[in-house]
Amino acid sequence: MITLHNLQKQFSGKILFKDVSLQIGVRDRIGLIGPNGSGKTTLIRIILREEPIDGGEILIAKGVRFGYLPQEVIPLKGNTVLGEVLKGAENIISLEDKMKILEEEFSSIQDPKEQEKLAKEYGRLQERYAILGGYGLEAEAKQILKGLGFKERDFSRRTEELSGGWLMRVALGKILLQSPDLLLLDEPTNYLDLSSLIWLEEFLIHYPGAMIIISHDRVFLNHLVNRIAEIENEQLHLYSGNYDFYMKEKASRREILEATFKAQQRKIEQIERFIERFRAKNTKSRQVQSRIKMLQKMERIELPKEEKTIHFQFPSPKRSGHKVIEVKNLHKRYGDTVVYQGIDLILYRGDKVALVGPNGAGKSTLLKILAGVLEFEEGEVILGKEVTRAYFAQHQFDLLNPENTVYEELLGVATDESQTELRTLLGTFLFRGEEIEKKVSVLSGGEKSRLILAKMLLKPANFLLLDEPTSHLDIPSRNVLEEALKQFPGTLCFITHDRHLINEVANKVMEIENGRLHLYPGNYDYYLYKKQQVLAPEKGVSEPPPQKKGTKSLLKEQRRRRAQEMDQFRRQLSSLQKRFDEVEASLEEATRRLDHLNQRLSDPNLYLNQKETYETIEAQKQTKEQVRQLTQLWEFLALELEEMKLLRPSFTNEN
Ligand SMILES: Nc1ncnc2c1ncn2[C@@H]1O[C@H](COP(=O)(O)OP(=O)(O)OP(=O)(O)O)[C@@H](O)[C@H]1O
Ligand SMILES: [Mg+2]
Repeated sequence: MITLHNLQKQFSGKILFKDVSLQIGVRDRIGLIGPNGSGKTTLIRIILREEPIDGGEILIAKGVRFGYLPQEVIPLKGNTVLGEVLKGAENIISLEDKMKILEEEFSSIQDPKEQEKLAKEYGRLQERYAILGGYGLEAEAKQILKGLGFKERDFSRRTEELSGGWLMRVALGKILLQSPDLLLLDEPTNYLDLSSLIWLEEFLIHYPGAMIIISHDRVFLNHLVNRIAEIENEQLHLYSGNYDFYMKEKASRREILEATFKAQQRKIEQIERFIERFRAKNTKSRQVQSRIKMLQKMERIELPKEEKTIHFQFPSPKRSGHKVIEVKNLHKRYGDTVVYQGIDLILYRGDKVALVGPNGAGKSTLLKILAGVLEFEEGEVILGKEVTRAYFAQHQFDLLNPENTVYEELLGVATDESQTELRTLLGTFLFRGEEIEKKVSVLSGGEKSRLILAKMLLKPANFLLLDEPTSHLDIPSRNVLEEALKQFPGTLCFITHDRHLINEVANKVMEIENGRLHLYPGNYDYYLYKKQQVLAPEKGVSEPPPQKKGTKSLLKEQRRRRAQEMDQFRRQLSSLQKRFDEVEASLEEATRRLDHLNQRLSDPNLYLNQKETYETIEAQKQTKEQVRQLTQLWEFLALELEEMKLLRPSFTNEN
């Protein structure tokens, strides 16, 4: 369908890639990966012919339709949410318009002959409309929108009212409805929450066309793609499998490369020693000459350069008071939509709180209010002693001035820092040398995120409020940010759809649902665990007050519910126990296998047979990994089982 041949691209002298070749077939699902700034977005824009190339060729079959979701928010105006998405299916909509015109004409015409002509024409249009799926179009559009997290009542909202993340969802919905031959999605998961992400995954799994997806989400890629194309060291490397396959294959390619590299290095040293030794001897001059030639002709194997990753630590800020922030009786609404009606909250120094909750529950709203950047109607927000705040907004690229250079952008928030200090900070975020003179407008998504983080770091605050801080960052940079957040000695409140990040960083999880807050003192696993738990409802909190019913029927009702809960609890316990037993059995089995393999490997006779040696080593490696994973799982399940059993007495006591 599409062929890229020896593409070359550079920006002001800096080579992005040379010799990029790629075939895209009608059913290909390609994951395009690579570090921030390696040229992923640029490659997609090249395919769309929005970006010129410096060499090579692009061949695109006639009539191929593209659907492109850019990495950054595109403003939309003058339509409702549903209207905008329907606009995607332009050919159907124009048919609809034509049909409407005919209908109007029809009623104004008297001549039966003319009427007949029109009716025929109308019939033809109708038929085509049906073939194209016109009648189901609106229903399909609505379904897509719902999958992406919109509620029925949002369909008629104006796109001007929507925040960046929701605009991206509209754009995505529009593309999915068009059902193009090739989907080009540049980091589509950045703007989705967990449930929409899972919906999108499901939708794309069944998608009939081809797709190129840029993503740093390995789970997402694993589920969706059958090829990986990685831009690394100015080249495009292809792998015929999903992300896990790519990881394995890459490691083994690297191993082979290193081995051949070492062999070649040894050879080179040998030759050089020879030359060195006999250079002065006339008798050997022919051999010396031939070896010098040999060296010159030798094609040198090069190891890939280590990729640069950001490295930073949040500077230790001044210590704040014990109580960091207190919210009293907060009321917040947007127009008619009530988000909060009297919530209370206190955060203390050292709290690292992850805000979770469904779409549109008001996570970003609360974070903004805590950050002091959003007004509210009623209530109080009291900042603790010596508390300083820094806020990282979601999709906030528009806060950067595109006309500024990277350096100027940082300078804008600097007070008394020296030029060297600013340069060092930018260097930490991988803006090196001339790169700090780059205009903001040309930065890649990840580069912009890094610049924003750098700006935030310049003024060390002790209370950080971060809305999706890992969006756009590549995997190594995410790990660095994660580490820095873990080490951060201050207070933290953050929103993310990265479950891994919550687990690693959060010591509290705050769930927001239906305008209520619920604080869980633990990480994400703990939160999930507590949610699943069928503990008796906490007294006085979620128990509905017994007002209307009589005491007797209430007691009966309570007993019935307890029995039901007890029953459910028992079932959960037994299924957990069963899983635990299974895992334990597999672990024992794997351990036995490993012992056996180890024994085989200690037998010198084995090494007489090369094939068998290789296979045994391979099997031992795999089994070892299996044992490691099973042990982890076993430990986890054992703990869980223990905790669950501990809970039972309190549960039955209450009965
Ligand atoms: N018009 C331009 N002029 C100069 N440099 C540019 C221009 N456009 C892009 N670049 C640079 O080219 C590099 C590649 O950009 P690109 O947006 O393709 O990266 P990417 O792989 O998509 O990165 P990310 O993962 O951060 O989105 C970046 O360093 C960027 O700053
Ligand atoms: Mg990009």
